[in-house]
Amino acid sequence: MRFLDIIEKKRDKFELSHEEIYFAIKSIVEGVVPDYQISALLMAIYLNKLTVDETYDLTMAMVETGETEYISGISEHSIDKHSTGGVGDKLTLVIAPILSALGVPIIKMSGRGLGITGGTLDKLESIPQFNVYLSKNKIEKQAREIGIVISAQTKELAPADKILYELRDVTATVDNISLIASSIMSKKLAIKNKALSIDLKVGKGAFMKNIEQARELASIMKYIAYKNGREINIVLSDMNNPIGRSVGNTLEIIEVVDVLKGDLKEDVYQMAVDFSAHAVKLIRPNENINDIKAQCREVIDDGSALNKFEQMVSYQGGDISFIKDINKFSLAKNQIEIKACGDGFIDYDANLIGQLSLLSGAGREKKEDKIDFGAGIYFNKVWGDFVNEGDVIYNIYTNKNLSDIDDLIKSSYNLLDISTKKNRIIEVI
Ligand code: URA
Repeated sequence: MRFLDIIEKKRDKFELSHEEIYFAIKSIVEGVVPDYQISALLMAIYLNKLTVDETYDLTMAMVETGETEYISGISEHSIDKHSTGGVGDKLTLVIAPILSALGVPIIKMSGRGLGITGGTLDKLESIPQFNVYLSKNKIEKQAREIGIVISAQTKELAPADKILYELRDVTATVDNISLIASSIMSKKLAIKNKALSIDLKVGKGAFMKNIEQARELASIMKYIAYKNGREINIVLSDMNNPIGRSVGNTLEIIEVVDVLKGDLKEDVYQMAVDFSAHAVKLIRPNENINDIKAQCREVIDDGSALNKFEQMVSYQGGDISFIKDINKFSLAKNQIEIKACGDGFIDYDANLIGQLSLLSGAGREKKEDKIDFGAGIYFNKVWGDFVNEGDVIYNIYTNKNLSDIDDLIKSSYNLLDISTKKNRIIEVI
């Protein structure tokens, strides 16, 4: 078998066999295929698509060419929560402590931000000394002792995904349903959690721009999970407006702490309670969802979720004094005040806000770019608020001298006669 024949076959729109897909992925992981051939195959897949069977084989080949981790004594009832990525999406950092405080262990490998979407690892690293690189032993120990672990993907897990994702990113082949499904699910299957709850974001600030695409992606991920005996639910959620009060790493950590302290009961709090309840329902199917939501609120109110977050920070080496006193965090030195150009109910464009945050220094365009943790955006007025002309609607924090951003700022929000604010959850599949 030759890699070239596999490229040709997909180029000519034929279905690849199980053997061909395994051969291709094994060769990629062994490092014997040059990047230009991998890129050609990715483009052929992107243009001519994969069937459900091919997507399944691709996913399993990606899992099986890496290590799989079973956390003994925990995996039987632990959960993984995954978001497909959004703007201002700090929900994992609230949901994980809630689940853990409810006695549901959560073990998850998170990623870094790229483009307009933020990454949980970057947010965590804005806490001084926080270590996201944990060994298998450390993950197991922490999972057993405190029931909450958020770490970087180890290089042994689904190594094909790392190679493919990096090439997809620079060959315009990211937003293909089969490639996204196999990328997400290979990482999720490699860690043997009992259940998986996925927040699949739809809208301007997400990979999936419309609901039909999102449903197709959801159904293929469910198929892959079920075939592997995993419990799964997928929550489709609206990502047209940025989430919560902030976008940017330190700003988002501060918001997370405020939510966990029970001081901020808005968008992030609501969403975290809803998503946590759907995740818990997976492993406690007989409990009423409203009762679970009440329990989620309770672990915030009684401080136990915050306590779990603090435990995780100290187990992973982070300086806990910053969580105890959020005034210790420093933000970028320049603040640009953005004022409303008229009256109306505010509706942001998550994509353009993501772009502004990126320009402020809070994100990276290329993998090797360095992040400015203190940069980002803080919203004085959030989605659905009524604003008057001249009100400061948001502040951009930056250490850069930003120019040519006036058009972006103007288009980053609309002022409407009626509020578009609604529950973020579109449906649970
Ligand atoms: N998240 C992933 O892990 N992979 C993708 O392809 C898209 C989102």
